[in-house]
Parts: sequence; structure tokens; C-alpha cells
Amino acid sequence: MNLKILFHIQEVLKEAGYFDISRIANEIYTYSIEKNIPLNLILERISNQEPWEYIQGFVDFRGRKFLVTKDTLIPRIESEQLVDIAKDLILKNDIKTVIDLGTGSGCLIISIAHEIENQLITFVGIDISQAALNIAKKNGSTGKIYFYKKDLICKEELEDNTLIVANLPYIPTKMYEELDRSVKEYEPRLALDGGSDGLLYYKRLIEQIRLSKKEIFLLIEIEPSTLTELTQATNNIPFKVFQDFNKRNRFVLFNFS
Ligand SMILES: C[S@@+](CC[C@H](N)C(=O)[O-])C[C@H]1O[C@@H](n2cnc3c(N)ncnc32)[C@H](O)[C@@H]1O
Repeated sequence: MNLKILFHIQEVLKEAGYFDISRIANEIYTYSIEKNIPLNLILERISNQEPWEYIQGFVDFRGRKFLVTKDTLIPRIESEQLVDIAKDLILKNDIKTVIDLGTGSGCLIISIAHEIENQLITFVGIDISQAALNIAKKNGSTGKIYFYKKDLICKEELEDNTLIVANLPYIPTKMYEELDRSVKEYEPRLALDGGSDGLLYYKRLIEQIRLSKKEIFLLIEIEPSTLTELTQATNNIPFKVFQDFNKRNRFVLFNFS
């Protein structure tokens, strides 16, 4: 390994705003050699703020590789915690169906299905984007997971004993507009912009669950600043808030029973 080249890659990464520069510099170096792609072409893309995950075409999520393209969000590390909360719920309750709404790359439902390994549970991934679903299907091709193209889910399709895990677009539009170029120019807006209050999709979904009158757990990831508005809009539904590793109110579990 050429240290001078490695330092150069690290400098480019630092300039582009990366934090974990030594790990990624090693990955770029190895990728360039293995794929026989000139380093300067990769570094040019990095300097143009293109996320490294899209360049290499995959991301690590809970120790598993997931393909990602510009049609799928790059899974965020904090979302890994959704899998832990979901697993705990499944183990303590008689869950028959797990639905991942806004599945993107499929990282949540595929991780849950693999880590739970329960043949009696039906695992479903839903997304409005066919392009994202095509990637999710590739990622989940070895497991028994059903993927569907749908705009959320409606009350008639819901059954008792279902856990819905949802990481739907939740960034308020104004906040979205101020995000870095690396996000706005490369990641799909459809995966991020949650409307003026960041709750456009969650409010619609909660209404459908409420109308279904079924026994359902809903576990969602949110923008922490929208928590008060969310819980006001859902007044009498019991809920529990979980913090992420930065101690921010990131996940909410509703119990519709
Ligand atoms: C924040 S991304 C989450 C992707 C993935 N679950 C993850 O955690 O990395 C939100 C996903 O919701 C999908 N989506 C947006 N609007 C939707 C809708 N109305 N119905 C279903 N999925 C939707 C987007 O296409 C995107 O894949």
C-alpha cells in the first residue's frame, strides 16, 4: 500500500467534508486497484460531492452488504437501531406480519427477516418507487420477503398482529432545502422530503391504521424536531419514544389496540 497515495486520498476526503477518512481512503484505494479504475476519476467524483457509497455501489448495514443506486437512499447508521427495536417487539409479542413501509434498498426488512429467522412471520417491503424496489429485490433475493409497489398502505389491507416499520420521508421541506449538495444532488428527494411539517406521510399512514381498527404496532423514524407536532396530531394513541446514539428523539413506537 502506497502511503503517499493514501494521504492524498485522505486529503481529498477531508476537503469534501468526510469524517471517517482513514477507513474510506483504504476502501477507495482497494476499489481503484480491484476494479482497475484510475484513482483520479474516483477522486474527481468525490470532489464533486458524490457519496462514496454510490460510487462503490453498496453500503454496509448491520454487517451485511446492500446494493445502493441513486434511486435508493443510502441507509443511515442510526436506522440500524430500528432493527433492534423491531426484533425486541417481535420476540415479546405475537407478531404475524412485519411490513417495512418505504423500504428503499430493503435494508430494514431484510435485516429483520434474517436476524429473526421465524418461518411463521410474513415479511413485506413496500415502496412507491419501482426503481428502488428493483434494488431491494436484488438485496433480498435469498430471503422470503415479498416486495410491492404501493403508495403507503390502506386500511382494508391491514391485519391484526402486524408490526409496521416505517422510515418514510420525514425532513421538513425547508430543512431539506438547506441540506448538503451531496444529499440534494445525489439522493432521491422522494426519499427525504416529508412536506412542510415533515409529517405528511406519517399523518396519512396513522389515519389509515386508525381507521382499520386493527391491533398494530407502528415503529417510525422521525426528524426529532417534529416529535411534539406528531404526538399532538395522534393525541390518544399510546406511544413510546426511543433516542438515537446522539441522544435525540429519533424513533416512536405507537400501539394501536
Ligand atoms: C427515508 S427513505 C428510507 C429507505 C430505507 N427504508 C432506509 O431506511 O434506508 C424513504 C423511502 O420511502 C419511499 N416512499 C416515499 N413516498 C412513499 C409513499 N407514498 N409510499 C411508499 N413509499 C414511499 C421512498 O421511495 C424511499 O425509498
